Amino acid sequence: MTALDRESITGALIGRSYGRSLDLKERTGSTNDDVREAAGGGAPSGLVIVADAQDRGRGAHGRVWSSPPGEDLYFSILERRTLDGAQLPWLTLAVGLGVRDAVSGYASDARCKWPNDVLIGDRKCAGILVESSSMGNRVGPFVIGVGLDVNRTVFAPELAEAATSLRLASNHSLTRETVLANVLSAIEARVDQLHAGQRDALKRDLTSHLAWIGQQVLIDQHQGTLVGIDDDGALRLSGGERILSGTLRRA
Ligand code: BTN
Repeated sequence: MTALDRESITGALIGRSYGRSLDLKERTGSTNDDVREAAGGGAPSGLVIVADAQDRGRGAHGRVWSSPPGEDLYFSILERRTLDGAQLPWLTLAVGLGVRDAVSGYASDARCKWPNDVLIGDRKCAGILVESSSMGNRVGPFVIGVGLDVNRTVFAPELAEAATSLRLASNHSLTRETVLANVLSAIEARVDQLHAGQRDALKRDLTSHLAWIGQQVLIDQHQGTLVGIDDDGALRLSGGERILSGTLRRA
């Protein structure tokens, strides 16, 4: 038995594609692996697999995603719509923007940290891991994995300085099912925007909710003032330097 209630999630997602097919697990290795396997077996686009706990939760750059039971959300979405090379970097950015949209309902200072984190203040509350396969010049299907700290109040020492949760930010314990339905709807709306060719609108909204614009940042061996996002989704630093991937920090 999972700790999450199916009816409360599906009831709030009527008319949506994401979550129409929903698999709730008490414990798994990684929901990203589960969705990839389900995709190979012909699962429909919009399938969502949620786990109450993960034993091998995976973050970006091979990092571990802490996934204890009972408090937070770990889920993956199967997105079968393919993208071309120009749209590709915008998928992670669109998902991040969607997560931020939903989180902003609980914490007004929610922002996107390029390319795949959502912050409240300067602390991370969510991370996104998009994985895909390629077919010729199209990329997809995609597994969109999201980890969101909802009700956690105590973090491991190595996370304590940098992490937060919706509960810590809002002073309220939240119903995970409601948060999940809100986040899925918001992600779907942003990914739909990408498929509708509305990259300009995504760029405008991302820029207005981007963390650390105008501030000194470090990304791998680069340092400069964060200027914004280019049309291709690259991060732009002062002096015209363009960054395509890496882990962004404040200098
Ligand atoms: C990051 O910020 O490094 C990305 C974290 C992504 C974590 C989620 S939790 C659900 C899904 N399953 C995984 O193994 N990873 C993603």
